[in-house]
Formats: sequence, structure tokens, C-alpha cells
Amino acid sequence: MGAERMHAASAESTAIVDAVLDYSRRRMLAADVPLDKPQTPAELNRLVGATITDAGLGSQRALSVFEHILAPACLTTSHPLYLSFIPTAPTMAAIAFDLVVSASGLYGGSWLEGAGAVHAENEVLSFLAAEFGLPDTAGGVFVQGGTIGNLSALVAAREAAKAKLLEAGKELPRRWKIVCSVEAHSSNKSAAKVMDADVLLVPAGPDGVLRADAVREALAEHGDEICAVVATGGSTNFGIVDDIAGIAALKDEFDFWLHIDGAYGLTAMLAPEARGIFAGVERADSVIVDPHKWLFAPFDCCALIYRDPDAGRRAHTQHAEYLDTLTDGDDFSPSDYSIQLTRRPRGLPLWFSLATYGVTAYREAVSSTIALTKRIAAEIAARPELRLVRDPQLSVVVFERDGWERADYDRWSDELLDSQRAFVVPSSHAGRPNTRFAILNPLTTFEDLTGILDTMK
Ligand SMILES: Cc1ncc(COP(=O)(O)O)c(C=O)c1O
Repeated sequence: MGAERMHAASAESTAIVDAVLDYSRRRMLAADVPLDKPQTPAELNRLVGATITDAGLGSQRALSVFEHILAPACLTTSHPLYLSFIPTAPTMAAIAFDLVVSASGLYGGSWLEGAGAVHAENEVLSFLAAEFGLPDTAGGVFVQGGTIGNLSALVAAREAAKAKLLEAGKELPRRWKIVCSVEAHSSNKSAAKVMDADVLLVPAGPDGVLRADAVREALAEHGDEICAVVATGGSTNFGIVDDIAGIAALKDEFDFWLHIDGAYGLTAMLAPEARGIFAGVERADSVIVDPHKWLFAPFDCCALIYRDPDAGRRAHTQHAEYLDTLTDGDDFSPSDYSIQLTRRPRGLPLWFSLATYGVTAYREAVSSTIALTKRIAAEIAARPELRLVRDPQLSVVVFERDGWERADYDRWSDELLDSQRAFVVPSSHAGRPNTRFAILNPLTTFEDLTGILDTMK
């Protein structure tokens, strides 16, 4: 075979597909997946050697290098004892369906090319919008992650602010300002940098909650220069939710775009007992939530939802002669709603999983992690050598070990990973070292967590 060898359905292709599916199947269904750990570049160089060669290694050798050397040098971020940063915990159905998304040339950028996929993604976005109390005209797009979601929303907010001022015959500010809490995620600051805008960091209370009074002061002082106020629906470090109801009520006094960064925490609205904490989200102009976090989808996936999708479209549609077929009509094309053009229909694994298991299973899974967090927080509070830094609101619990310096946390954390027991890294707050459990895998147990606490004696 000549040039067609790599693409044709043939005996060689069958062997490759079988081997890859067999590996994927074994990995997905393994009862006891390892946590694994990183290697140094030198060690990987030594073990792997050159894999990109003129003749190719063949699929068997390439897969073997991946299975036995490269994969074990990657942490299993979906492991029930991966408790650092914000983990991931995709459902079986979502993982399996991710293979399907790659199996054919599914394109999710335009209705013309991907109507079926876009229809399914939109049903998920409408479901989420309804959960968040947004009107049924709300809509948006699945993007790569919270960073791009926040940036896309804030760019749309700036376009809307610009149009409003121009319409009123007012001058545009020399620089735009974005208001957010000192505890907001770094991606909001990164978005401002990309937009060449300023961040107005507003102090949160000692409990980490951004409140209306602080935001009111900023709005009163900087008025038309502010293109968006960002409230966080579950901070990354603590899982703390801002006073969204109070901040949203400021819309009665000021005209501003309210963006909710719910990348990690907004999923908790699916749990009836947590919904109340998020009152006010229904007044948001845009929200994001990352299904690759607590909505049990594989990397990488962020749902970006606008109250008025046209505001997103006005900010983001790309125009070019070769795209006229796509942009001249009224079709709903996801690429029009964020910073991207070509896109994988990355919402489909979540769609398949929701369609498979039903929403009730999701509510129960989210509730179970919130309950486990409360239980382990009570256990931490009851241990004399440990201290909760703040009471948890969602599924992150941050705590200190009496008398430990940063070096003690480092040593302890390294030992946990070396022994393949757990991945729990040090963190800090107000200059004091601590550590945290970020819990969102329904397979994580109370005994797993108390076992880790026991190692801090
Ligand atoms: C509150 C919040 N916003 C934004 C982000 C950024 O999301 P991503 O890592 O998907 O870009 C994160 C990530 O942890 C987050 O917790």
C-alpha cells in the first residue's frame, strides 16, 4: 500500500484499532487503577528513546511504550485518592463516549456541519441554564476550559458595555475595569491581561465571601469604566461561594454585566441542599461551569452560557469570505459564541452520560460528595492536632496540622505519592501553610480520608 495506508480500512488498521480499544477497555474497567507519578525528563529520555522515526515503530511498540513508560508517568487525575487542585471524575459512560466523539469526523463548530451533535450539546446547555434559573432563551457553547470560558464571557461583557456607552453618546473609557474578589480564580486576571483591561480587586470578608457592599463601592467609584463584575460560585482554594444574591441585587442600583465563575462549584446547584447558597445566579448575564470538574465529564470541557446568546455572538463571530456560507444565515453555530473556530463537540460525552444515567443520579453523586466533605470536616475538627482553616461550603476542606512548617507538608505529601496512597499537595492561606482535600469522586470513602489523616500524626 502507498499513500492510503494510514487511512484505509485494512488488516493493519483493524489490528491497530483492536489494540487501542483493548487497552482503553482494560484501563477503563480496571478495578484498581494506580495513581502513578511523574518522572524526570532525563529518566523518560533514557526509558523511551526516539519514537519519531522515518519508518515508524509500528503500533505494537508505540502502544507498549505508552502503556509501560509514558502512561505510568502521568498521574491518574480521576483516581478517588487524587484530592489536590480540582480533580476530575468522569463517569464510565462519559469516558466511553469520548472515544465515539473521535471515531468519526464529528465537527461541532457549525450547525451546517454538526447539527446532530450541536442539538445534543444545546439540550445539555438548556438543562444547565434551567438548573441555574436562567431564562429558556439562554444558551452558549462548550469551550476548552474555565479560562477560555471566563475570557469569552468577559470579552462579550466588554462588547456589550461598549455598545451601551456608544448608544448613549458617551465616551469610551481609556481602560476597561473588571471587578472581582481577591479570592477569584487567576484566570480572571489572565483574561483582563489578554484584554488589556484592569482588574479591580475587591476585598472579600474574613470568611472568603465577596459581598455586595464592597462591590457597590467599586461600582459607585468607577461607574462606566467597569465592563463586568465577576462573582465566584465556589472558589478554587476553599470552595467558598460569594454573596451572589447581594451582588446581583446591585443590578437594581447599577447597570452592569454580572458574570458568575462557577467553573468548579456551580455544579452544586444540582444538589437540592446546596441550591440556596447560589441564590442570585438567575440574574447573571453569563455563567461558566466546567463539566470536567464536578459534572463528571472527561477533559476538557467548560459550559459557557449567556443570558442573551446574541451578546456572545456579537462579540465572537468570525467573518471571512470562505465562512460566508456559515455566517450569512440564522443557524446556531457554536463557534460564534466564544474565542475559537474549529471545535470538537466536547459536550457530547456529558450529553451521553446524562442521557444514560439520568439527572437524579447526578444529583445523588453531587450530594454524596458534599455530605462526605461535611463528615470529614467534622472529623478534622475533632482531632486535636488538626485545625480547619475555614468551614467548608461545598466539597473542598482546608486544614492545618499543629506545628507543621511547609517542609513538613512537603515531606508528608511526597511520601503519600511515593507510596501511591494518595495525591494531596500542600497549599497555604494568608502566609500559613496548610493542605486541602478537594473531593468530587463518588468512589472516595470516609475511610480513605481518615486513613490519610492518620498519617499526619
Ligand atoms: C473557579 C475557577 N475558575 C476558573 C478555573 C479555570 O478553569 P480551567 O482550568 O478549566 O481553565 C478554575 C480551575 O480550577 C476554577 O476553579
